[in-house]
Amino acid sequence: MHKDISTILVSETEINDICETLGHQLNQDYKDKNPILIGLLKGCIPFMSDLAKKIELKVDMAYMSVSSYHGGISSSGDVKIKMDLDISVKDRHVLIIEDIVDTGNTIVTIVELLKHRGAKSVEIVTLLDKPEGRTKPYEPKYVGRTIPKLFVVGYGLDYNEYYRNLPYVGVLKPEVYTNKESN
Ligand code: PRP
Repeated sequence: MHKDISTILVSETEINDICETLGHQLNQDYKDKNPILIGLLKGCIPFMSDLAKKIELKVDMAYMSVSSYHGGISSSGDVKIKMDLDISVKDRHVLIIEDIVDTGNTIVTIVELLKHRGAKSVEIVTLLDKPEGRTKPYEPKYVGRTIPKLFVVGYGLDYNEYYRNLPYVGVLKPEVYTNKESN
């Protein structure tokens, strides 16, 4: 698996520092509130797990499964809800936990949906932000690292469902793409 990676973009140490910093920020900003952390499956899992351990507030942890990539390397733009929440967001402060914001399709759709369902506030906490990929304007409030327009895998991010278990975020060697899609 490691041999398919050309560069490590965000190391394990950096990821740990990001979780510490964001956790500290959230502890301050959400003091006296008990937000719901909503993880967008599947990519959120490692980040949500590490970040949540740095949050010292009483939080609910809930999950939604949405998908727009369908296994390739570029977004289809068509966001599907595959599994919905098992908790109400009405009058609650919501923090959506993401591994990456790229085109913005996923996040714009989900933020609108949760606001429509009556959430008191909705903010995004994302490990990575790829602003050059944006097709819908959206600026996530809490960003671990801003990255250039590269196809990255690891620490939750996949290519054809593989590499999510890498402990770092890395750039996949282009020869690994079987169908030469552009990103
Ligand atoms: C990825 C990622 C984000 C979304 C970001 O999810 O986890 O949710 O794409 O891309 P966007 O800003 O272009 O919408 P994906 O749909 O691949 O599902 P996964 O988390 O199960 O891999």
